Amino acid sequence: GQAISQQGNGQGAVACLSCHGPQGEGNAAVGFPRLAGLPADYLSHQLRSYRDGTRQNPMMQPFALALSDEDIQAVSAYYASLEGPNLPTAYQAAAPENTAEWLAERGDWENTIPACNQCHGPNGQGVRDIFPPLAGQHASYMAAQLNAWRNGTRSNDPNGLMQGIAERLSEEQFGLITAYYATL
Ligand code: HEM
Ligand code: HEM
Repeated sequence: GQAISQQGNGQGAVACLSCHGPQGEGNAAVGFPRLAGLPADYLSHQLRSYRDGTRQNPMMQPFALALSDEDIQAVSAYYASLEGPNLPTAYQAAAPENTAEWLAERGDWENTIPACNQCHGPNGQGVRDIFPPLAGQHASYMAAQLNAWRNGTRSNDPNGLMQGIAERLSEEQFGLITAYYATL
């Protein structure tokens, strides 16, 4: 896994670190996601999705296509083992006027949007295997993913959970929620 991350696999997958960074930290300026500390099963699901086209991205697809099942397993385990960002542990209930925090913790039921943390875990820290952490992920990258669900280039989520949410978010909520999780 570490070898693929740093040197590629010699079969067409280049070194991941050129985009995802030497510690899997990603690159906020260009919207490349942090991979460090994401769940291994989530990472391998994404790599298979780029391979089978249920998640379309011209930058990632050629590398994913060049990875064998074993490569995917190894590189996913490697990134999962790297330390993620420092996550907050203290819990303070949200106030309704704090739009982003309220959306994260309570949702927006007038528009049928459940609380993000219902699935992504308290403080957006992620819930093992299926639900990726949002805390500390780059806002630029998260915005790109919400747009990908809106325009159908990402349709890989198991129960179509994210697509409806992405579509129902207002433009204001969209900007505030991605900034909120990025700075948690
Ligand atoms: C997204 C893995 C190489 C650019 C991702 C994701 C994974 C991943 C798992 C999804 C992250 C998530 O859902 O949170 C890898 C691995 C690589 C590799 C294992 C090496 C074999 C690269 C390289 C580039 C790149 C070399 C740049 C040329 C991107 C971009 C995205 C992404 C732009 C976001 C794509 C989107 O919007 O769906 N990568 N990556 N990756 N990666 Fe890589
Ligand atoms: C993935 C945002 C609510 C289930 C994601 C991702 C983002 C996101 C940005 C992509 C992460 C990445 O690529 O690393 C949000 C926001 C929410 C919200 C802003 C609230 C407004 C929910 C809820 C559920 C859910 C309520 C469950 C009912 C999922 C799942 C994935 C995901 C299953 C991973 C899909 C896959 O395997 O590709 N979410 N989310 N999310 N979210 Fe949410």
